[in-house]
Amino acid sequence: MTDQQLIAEAHKALQFAVAPYSRFRVGAALLGGDGKVYRGCNIENSTYGLTVCAERVAIFKALSEGVRKFRKIAVASSSEKGASPCGSCRQLLWEFCGDIPVLVATPSGKTSKYRVQKLLPHPFDSATLKK
Ligand code: THU
Repeated sequence: MTDQQLIAEAHKALQFAVAPYSRFRVGAALLGGDGKVYRGCNIENSTYGLTVCAERVAIFKALSEGVRKFRKIAVASSSEKGASPCGSCRQLLWEFCGDIPVLVATPSGKTSKYRVQKLLPHPFDSATLKK
């Protein structure tokens, strides 16, 4: 699966965003080691604080299907500035997906590519817990 194909999947996921409060739509497409794409969109609700980002929805969908290895993730948003994953998503990307490429795409087709480690330097993780 090419980067462009995965980005197209993220744009498809964005169509289902449940974002009536922020009106900021995000879609994520996570490529599993099994070759399947797990899509997610942001999901907001009336209490605001229970919002779940598109990336985490995609990660949880894959984990709950038993997938434990990941190749890359694409994130598309309704903003021309792009939506780089938030801090909580960076933490889960690092812990569950490792140092995979993160493709951040804008509506007009601009793409930035990072590694998770660049987005989350000096992480806290299970290795930190080992005494
Ligand atoms: N959001 C995501 O889904 N992913 C990100 O990486 C950043 C923010 C969502 C959460 C909320 O629904 C909306 O974007 C505005 O913060």
